[in-house]
Amino acid sequence: MSPVHSLIEYLQQLARSGERYIRLDEEAKEILRERIRKGKRSVKAGPRHPPVPKAVDIDPGNSQQTEAPPPKLKAEGESAIEKLASLRKQAETWEPALALSSLRDTMVFATGNPEAELMLVGEAPGYEEERRGQPFVGKAGQKLDQILMAMGFSRENVYISNICKFRPALKNQTTNNRKPTPLEMQACLPFVRAEIEIVRPKCIVALGGTAAEGLLNYENQPVGRMREQWHEFEGIPLRVTYHPSYLLHNDSAVTEKRKVWEDMLSVMEFLEMPISQKQRAFFAEK
Ligand code: URA
Repeated sequence: MSPVHSLIEYLQQLARSGERYIRLDEEAKEILRERIRKGKRSVKAGPRHPPVPKAVDIDPGNSQQTEAPPPKLKAEGESAIEKLASLRKQAETWEPALALSSLRDTMVFATGNPEAELMLVGEAPGYEEERRGQPFVGKAGQKLDQILMAMGFSRENVYISNICKFRPALKNQTTNNRKPTPLEMQACLPFVRAEIEIVRPKCIVALGGTAAEGLLNYENQPVGRMREQWHEFEGIPLRVTYHPSYLLHNDSAVTEKRKVWEDMLSVMEFLEMPISQKQRAFFAEK
């Protein structure tokens, strides 16, 4: 087995046993990025999906096989709805993600308005999302619905997506979930890019540090340091806030709710939405 294959197999083992982070030097990271770029099938990607035929070099003077080119996304159709449906279809069998063997098989795409001004990007589907085939429909999703409602939105007039389109796998997994790894996010990133190109939202909110790191290519940045400022992804202004599940775990902490709310007030101001005095005062100290 080549050193590259050994490294990939070792990382897959770690991911399957629930490990979320690992320190890699720059060279190892570049090797892995290159593999993702090439969409190359790993040695362990066995029977879950039919094998992808490799491109064969037909030069008779050279009998060596060449690598299959990375799969290309093609959003077919006229309208945004048709283009997103075309992406969704391709996501179902997206080889760079499935070849990692650390993600489950069921693809969960996005939901909402294909012409939304606001796009929200979470990390990955969990148990409930996988079961129902929709992003943010579990407890964190209910919290997100409350936040959207307080802003004057509903799920139907924003666009809600995840940076990773498959539920990250764990050993003996039941209802437990884990965050996607940088590799898993990178494998699905072409979809988020394509979705943004189709929806063209006026701004994006990254829900939580994992999604923000995946989108912005940051490493180990706490949300506290990324929020309160505008970033940019694919030329679109992006704001970072805490993941709704953070508020579930800190439900009594009004200060944390206020921080998320201040992030959302910035988004509302940016979108030039009307903001009432009552809205401005949500979760503020009396
Ligand atoms: N958390 C996420 O980041 N995305 C979901 O779809 C559900 C929970």
